[in-house]
Amino acid sequence: MFPELRLRRLRSLKLIKETRVSKEDLILPLFIDENIAHGSKPIESMPGQYRHSIEQSVQEVMEARSLGIKTVIIFGIPSRKDEVGSEAYNDDGVVQRAVREIKNEIGDDVVIIADLCLCEYTTHGHCGLVRDGKVLNDPTLEVLAKIAVSYANAGVDIVAPSGMMDGMVRAIRTALDDSGFTDTAIMSYSAKYNSALYGPFREAADSAYKFGDRSSYQMDFANAREAMREVELDINEGADIVMVKPALFYLDIISRVRARFDDVPLAAYNVSGEYTMIKLAANSGYLKQNELIIECLTAIKRAGADLIITYFAKEAAKLI
Ligand code: PBG
Ligand code: ZN
Repeated sequence: MFPELRLRRLRSLKLIKETRVSKEDLILPLFIDENIAHGSKPIESMPGQYRHSIEQSVQEVMEARSLGIKTVIIFGIPSRKDEVGSEAYNDDGVVQRAVREIKNEIGDDVVIIADLCLCEYTTHGHCGLVRDGKVLNDPTLEVLAKIAVSYANAGVDIVAPSGMMDGMVRAIRTALDDSGFTDTAIMSYSAKYNSALYGPFREAADSAYKFGDRSSYQMDFANAREAMREVELDINEGADIVMVKPALFYLDIISRVRARFDDVPLAAYNVSGEYTMIKLAANSGYLKQNELIIECLTAIKRAGADLIITYFAKEAAKLI
């Protein structure tokens, strides 16, 4: 009791830090665009972020490595789209080629995660096959399985299905194992909410839907208990890492998943809209970018995430 106990005593020594964000926790997203021959193009909706050519993506990974970041998540933007997203399982597709080049140059010194979804590859921009204006679940699973095997074959270390189809983890695990890729891991976007915060990403990845919305597959942001069911299912289907997305408005979900499933590796996705909000606020001069980045990443970690996918990975690595 006060006055014997004074918590300010230690505080002024700055000795105790319960939560620390380390460089190894950070995952850098990379947009790789097959339509770009050399160099990079800025993404208007995400100031400071770029789409890269395959060639440039190798340089980006080397830079990340030199900053102490060991993991990247790649998003492919193909030069050809169709109704069924067949370019996603083309063994010479943009992701497959980029992964081969990166692994050729850098070897096993980098962990490559590949986002696994149809929306960048379909003309309608939905995350699954579409018939009569509906996004189909089970037929989509077969396509996801094919993409996973093609990615694993190219050298992807972790596939990350992001389409919120029921049974996607099981379908992918089975297909990988049947093809001998028992060491390829799965990071599932387990609790992915239908969020307005993905707006900037859809420009970045050219993955905007042409009709309807994603509410028949992505979760309603009003629901927390449902997220526990999604995570539990994915763990049972064989996910090696589960994810909550977005991160900042969803710290309660991260915290609940961590409390309920205390032994599962948990990632959080600090999404495009969160990046752009912070970036524009910092650019206005009213808020300080470096302080915001560290506070935001520390909060995500404090809530219970082991890994953080963030467009601030390079800036953060320099600050840590
Ligand atoms: C594709 C996908 C999206 C994001 C990651 N994978 C967009 C979406 O679901 O519309 C969002 C990432 C971000 O906003 O940074 N399924
Ligand atoms: Zn998608």
